[in-house]
Amino acid sequence: MVTTTFITGASSGIGSSLAIALAKKGHRVALFSRREKQLEEIKTEIEKNGGEALVVPGDVTNPTSIERAFEKIEREWAAPDIIVANAGVAHWIKTTEMDLEKAHQTIEVNLMGVINTVQLALPRMINNGGGQIVGIASAASYRGIPNLAVYSATKAGIVRYLEGVRVENNAKGIVVTTICPGFIKTPMVTNKDIPKGTPLPFMMDVEKSTKKIISAIEHKRSHYAYPRPMAILGKIGLILPNSMYDKVIIPFARWWFFR
Ligand SMILES: NC(=O)c1ccc[n+]([C@@H]2O[C@H](COP(=O)([O-])OP(=O)(O)OC[C@H]3O[C@@H](n4cnc5c(N)ncnc54)[C@H](OP(=O)(O)O)[C@@H]3O)[C@@H](O)[C@H]2O)c1
Repeated sequence: MVTTTFITGASSGIGSSLAIALAKKGHRVALFSRREKQLEEIKTEIEKNGGEALVVPGDVTNPTSIERAFEKIEREWAAPDIIVANAGVAHWIKTTEMDLEKAHQTIEVNLMGVINTVQLALPRMINNGGGQIVGIASAASYRGIPNLAVYSATKAGIVRYLEGVRVENNAKGIVVTTICPGFIKTPMVTNKDIPKGTPLPFMMDVEKSTKKIISAIEHKRSHYAYPRPMAILGKIGLILPNSMYDKVIIPFARWWFFR
């Protein structure tokens, strides 16, 4: 049976790379994001490789556009077996300089975008006897990160939200996979808005990252963090007392990366 996979944020970076790689593995991929032209280009690339893709433009902050996308996928193919809630934005700004508009947008896209996508997919999946929900969180979910406070909050929110969805629905055939990447070389971290000299430790190529995400999906992992050094640091960070994190880890990280 052909697997139908719906990916948000499929026009760029992690989402487009995942769409191309999953299509090569035989998935029918439905490509969702706001920039239709970029989605058409990804579809063309997938079809050149002999794969199947469907462009379903929309905005994760607008549930009606997600509903429309699901209806189109069901009309053309079938309800998605896998959804990848990947769309996200990051503003690398000091908390004192972050205006409320950007803060609201980050929460709307990163957290509400995942919730909108999952809430609309879940009843369909349960109706179909099961499915897999994949959420792209971040290593920034483990602790508050300087210059990424709102982003960290949204990613921690995704981790907790998906955990709730998992424990509530695993008996209904719903598999939930939360992915926490460290720094991945995509437009999100190569764009000009990032303050010069921002440390990007253990940065990984998007192709390598894609293989890791696919492996986590195929192995139905509930939580997967990578690259390994970042995952280890994140997990140590989780159990450290605040005094250690504030007075030792953050000053050490600043010294180490800005030497
Ligand atoms: N790169 C990293 O180091 C890294 C690390 C950890 C986690 N992540 C997470 O990975 C995910 C993908 O990021 P990326 O690195 O691939 O960044 P990216 O290249 O900037 O891609 C972001 C994607 O999100 C889509 N998007 C943004 N706002 C949207 C909206 N309102 N509705 C629908 N789609 C929207 C964009 O498409 P349109 O503009 O066409 O809408 C684009 O396809 C994000 O959730 C990010 O937080 C990235």
